[in-house]
Amino acid sequence: MNVLLLGSGGREHALAWKLAQSPLMETFIAVPGNPGIAEFARCIDTIPLTDHDALVTLCGAEGIDLVVVGPEAPLVDGLADRLIAEGIAVFGPRRVAAQLEGSKLFTKELCKSHDIPTAAFGRFSDAEAARAFVRRHGAPIVLKADGLMAGKGVIVAMTLDEALAGIDEVFAMGASGTEILIEEFLDGEEVSFFCLVDGETVLPFGSAQDHKRAFDGDQGPNTGGMGAYSPAPVFTAEMERRTLHEIVKPTARALADADSAYRGILFAGLMITADGPKLIEYNVRFGDPECQVLMLRLDGDLLPLLHATATGRLEDHDIALKPEAAITVVMAARGYPGHYDKGSVISGLEAAGSIPGVHVFHAGTARRDGAIVANGGRVLNVTAIGSNVAEARERAYDAVARLDWPEGFCRSDIAWRALG
Ligand code: AMP
Ligand code: GLY
Repeated sequence: MNVLLLGSGGREHALAWKLAQSPLMETFIAVPGNPGIAEFARCIDTIPLTDHDALVTLCGAEGIDLVVVGPEAPLVDGLADRLIAEGIAVFGPRRVAAQLEGSKLFTKELCKSHDIPTAAFGRFSDAEAARAFVRRHGAPIVLKADGLMAGKGVIVAMTLDEALAGIDEVFAMGASGTEILIEEFLDGEEVSFFCLVDGETVLPFGSAQDHKRAFDGDQGPNTGGMGAYSPAPVFTAEMERRTLHEIVKPTARALADADSAYRGILFAGLMITADGPKLIEYNVRFGDPECQVLMLRLDGDLLPLLHATATGRLEDHDIALKPEAAITVVMAARGYPGHYDKGSVISGLEAAGSIPGVHVFHAGTARRDGAIVANGGRVLNVTAIGSNVAEARERAYDAVARLDWPEGFCRSDIAWRALG
């Protein structure tokens, strides 16, 4: 099978590492890829992911059988629709279904009309009406801009003053003329839960917990994610059963019934509350860095699973996960998520990767004069598997210690929840 992988992060390096192990793999191309992905695939960095014509031409020239889309933006932008129209199988939903991530309002209305458990909400186009609503409901309360906000656009206000002050800010974050959402605050523990969905069939791909804050003890600014581990102990078999039954399957059914069947990985961001699982948000892609731990735990071949998802044949497949635990520690450039410098040299990658069970995935790296240098905010994902979380964590931090990159930092407490 000839495969084109789109994206350049640690998520895509982990996907490339797993896909390359498939005996079915023939030609393997990545756009744009990164120095880690280049070990497995031919990387082409001259085509922007927004250039759908050029991607279609590339698929034709290389006889691509399957396009695996890593990030959400091309999906929200309709890339899957275009590829499908050209007869190319694609792992990732069409534009209408990608609204699950592209529009919070779309998702909230879908939940409301199908009784899917989520935070109660109101939608507002007028700041004065929004303030009146906030005064009526009090704090804590959550304000959200609509649209693809790359992890920003949400204010969890713990006081009434904070909420009232945040309203104009959230209006300003969205596109002009758009509405904002005001949501009930959900109390509980957050979990990321992943399912392959081919329209009808839903196969669970395991759970993980992310660490969004930049510094130890969940302090500091929000980031794209500073580390993850899988499985999440709070997500028991009973929670998984309820989430499938009450949230994910009704969502897949609602979209299929509306003639906008979802095909791809569906990432449910959940709050495990005293009343059970509630949906915070959907993403239409693998999590980054959650994907990295899931790839280490996946037992067996990823390629047929992604192809069956894209072609509506998941019914004949199972996802087997190793019982072991996996953890990933994100190494970021000092200053991230604020200002940081690029170009510092990273060494010790081979020594770090030689620890049993450890894989160092590249995110924002580049190759310069034969050396690997930092080229982004989140730079490396030191990922390890072990018989339990404690062992996986020890391996990952042993690997971190072997890296020589003074300009980088990581959290030292990834998986603190799982270890009590
Ligand atoms: P989102 O961009 O929707 O994932 O929101 C970002 C973060 O805000 C989530 O990961 C949660 O930590 C928090 N959050 C969002 N919605 C709620 C809610 N209704 N109650 C409590 N926390 C929330
Ligand atoms: N790590 C969270 C995300 O990928 O959205």
